[in-house]
Amino acid sequence: MTVSERPSPPSSGFSARRLIAIDDLSDDEIHYILNLAEYYAGYLKRAAPPPRRLAGKTQINLFFEDSTRTNLSFDLAGKKLGADVINVPVSASSVHKGETLVDTAQTLSAMGAHVMIVRAKEEGLHKTLDETLDCPVVNGGAGKLEHPTQALLDAATICSEFGTLEGLTIAICGDIKHSRVAGSDARLFRRLGAQVRFVGPENLLPDSNQFTDISRFHALKEGLDSADIVMGLRMQFERMEGDGRALAQGFFDEFGLTQETISYAKPSARVMHPGPMNRGVEIDGALADDPERSLILRQVFYGVATRMACLDALITKGI
Ligand code: CP
Repeated sequence: MTVSERPSPPSSGFSARRLIAIDDLSDDEIHYILNLAEYYAGYLKRAAPPPRRLAGKTQINLFFEDSTRTNLSFDLAGKKLGADVINVPVSASSVHKGETLVDTAQTLSAMGAHVMIVRAKEEGLHKTLDETLDCPVVNGGAGKLEHPTQALLDAATICSEFGTLEGLTIAICGDIKHSRVAGSDARLFRRLGAQVRFVGPENLLPDSNQFTDISRFHALKEGLDSADIVMGLRMQFERMEGDGRALAQGFFDEFGLTQETISYAKPSARVMHPGPMNRGVEIDGALADDPERSLILRQVFYGVATRMACLDALITKGI
């Protein structure tokens, strides 16, 4: 899939004013962002400078939780489009003098932000900021709830390999219960026409009243059968109640993604992982590094292109 001409925004316009959840976007807006991501991926592949669509705009990255991929790819995405990007050094900020997270965000917004990317464990914070700030709020990860730009970059990566998600079977495996990626991926992939499955032990799957329309499997062999994509997830110990490390005991033997277990899926199946990976816990290093099977570093590449598309769309509305 290549998009060499700049895509046009939806005929009804790009009206989303925030990206906190996948459902903040219409179907047309999702397709516009995916096309725009592929357009920007072309610049990145050619190492050509993209249009400075965000020159004169200020982007603030406010990460209250650790991040490598999301924070740095938003940083790079904004800079590639010409924005002034501020990465807030949270650990050295006035948050530690008792300032609330909302007051911190309002203070930064008053410096003239045109967009604010926020990662936090507090699941209601993004909504409060959206109601408080004048600029678009982008969710860079909210507790166990949503990670919409990860889902968009995952979809862009799949499109780069398969051309579409329509008709694909995607098995999301591992610690789905504590994952914000799983929820955003499942919502987006289904809207794009894929069949989604959750695969893992019962105590790592969401409560039975959540995602009731997604099939669940408790064995890799059945869960991966006929899958086109196998998405691994790490154990998110930081979001588990108590010491969740006992859950990792024996997990790899039963649910580890390896060169052997991937053979339960289609011969053409690809493996993905949003990162960070824990080799030997949920995925074997040989599979993660397999140049035929693994799309994991391509996900990182599409992270920059997709975040360029999200920033451009939210700030300029495609005009
Ligand atoms: N996938 C992801 O969100 O990675 P980081 O925590 O490194 O941003």
